[in-house]
Amino acid sequence: MQRRLGKKVLFCTSAMAVWCEAAGGVRGVVLDISGVLYDSGGGGGVPISGSTDAVKRIKESGLKLRFCTNETQATREKFVAKLQTMGFDIAVGEVIAPAPAACRILKERGLRPHLLVHDGLLPEFDQIDQSNPNCVIIGDAAENFSYENMNRAFQLLMQLEKPLLFSLGRGRYYKETDGLKIDVGVYMKALEYACDIQAEVVGKPANAFFLSALTSMGLEPHQAIMIGDDLVNDVGGAQQCGMKGVQVRTGKYRPSDEQHPTVKADGYVDNLAQAVDILLEHLNK
Ligand SMILES: *[C@@H]1O[C@H](CO)[C@@H](O)[C@H](O)[C@H]1NC(C)=O
Ligand SMILES: *[C@@H]1O[C@H](CO)[C@@H](O)[C@H](O)[C@H]1NC(C)=O
Ligand SMILES: [Mg+2]
Repeated sequence: MQRRLGKKVLFCTSAMAVWCEAAGGVRGVVLDISGVLYDSGGGGGVPISGSTDAVKRIKESGLKLRFCTNETQATREKFVAKLQTMGFDIAVGEVIAPAPAACRILKERGLRPHLLVHDGLLPEFDQIDQSNPNCVIIGDAAENFSYENMNRAFQLLMQLEKPLLFSLGRGRYYKETDGLKIDVGVYMKALEYACDIQAEVVGKPANAFFLSALTSMGLEPHQAIMIGDDLVNDVGGAQQCGMKGVQVRTGKYRPSDEQHPTVKADGYVDNLAQAVDILLEHLNK
C-alpha cells in the first residue's frame, strides 16, 4: 500500500500495516512527553525535531489529545510552562500525570501520605491531609533520595500495621541529555525489599493510568492510540488496556526493542512527525 502526502511518500509496510489499517477509526491520541516531544536534561532539555508542529497538526485535525507522562519531579504547571516555552501547544488540563492520580486515590481511600518525592512536586499535594500518615508515596525524588529520607520512609512503613507504599511509576532509569539517570523504580524496590511488601504503582504502565486518559477524552480503548518511546511502559501498557501502541525511534528507543520477547508495538515510526503524517493521511480518506 502506498500513500502520497505532498512530496512525501509513505508506505504501509508490514511493520506499519496493523495500525495503518486501524488509524481510520482513531478518535484520540495519547502522547508520551519525554523522548517523544522533547529530550529532557540540563537547561530544561531540547524539543525533538518536528514535534511542536506534529502536536499542532493533531489539534487542527479535530482528534482528541492527551499527554500521559511519568514526570514526578515538578508540578504539572511548571512542567507545562517549560514545554510551552519550547513552542508546544499544551495545557495543564490535557496532562495526565502520576501525582494528581495519586491524590485521587488518597481521597477515595481516605489515606494520609508521608511523601518521599522531589521538593518540586510537593505543591501537587497541597490539598492533601498529611498529618499522622498511614501510607508512603515515593516519586522520582532525585537528589532528595538521601539515606535519611529513605530511612524515614522505611521506619514509617514498618510502624504501620499494614504497610502501604505507592510508587509514582516504576522506571529503572531514564535518559537525559547528559546521560542515564536512576529512576524511582530502583528506590521502590529497595523499600519493597526492606519491608517485604509490594508497592502499588500509580502511573505508567498501570491500567488505571491509561484509563483515566481515555475517560477524560470520553473514548473507548479501541478508539485511541498511544505513541511513546518506552516499549514496555508506554506501548505495552497501552496495549494491555486495549489501545493501539506505536513506538517512536527517538528518546530511549533502542533497535533491540523491535525484537522484544514479550511486547510488540502495533507500529514503529522514526519520530512523532512521521506518526502524525501516517495517522492524518488515513483519517482523511
Ligand atoms: C531536597 O534537595 C534540595 C536540594 O539539594 C534541598 O535543598 C532540600 O532540602 C531537600 N529536601 C528534602 C526534604 O530532603
Ligand atoms: C520517565 O521520565 C523520564 C524523565 O523524567 C523519561 O526520560 C522517561 O522516558 C520516562 N519513562 C517512562 C516509562 O515514561
Ligand atoms: Mg518517554
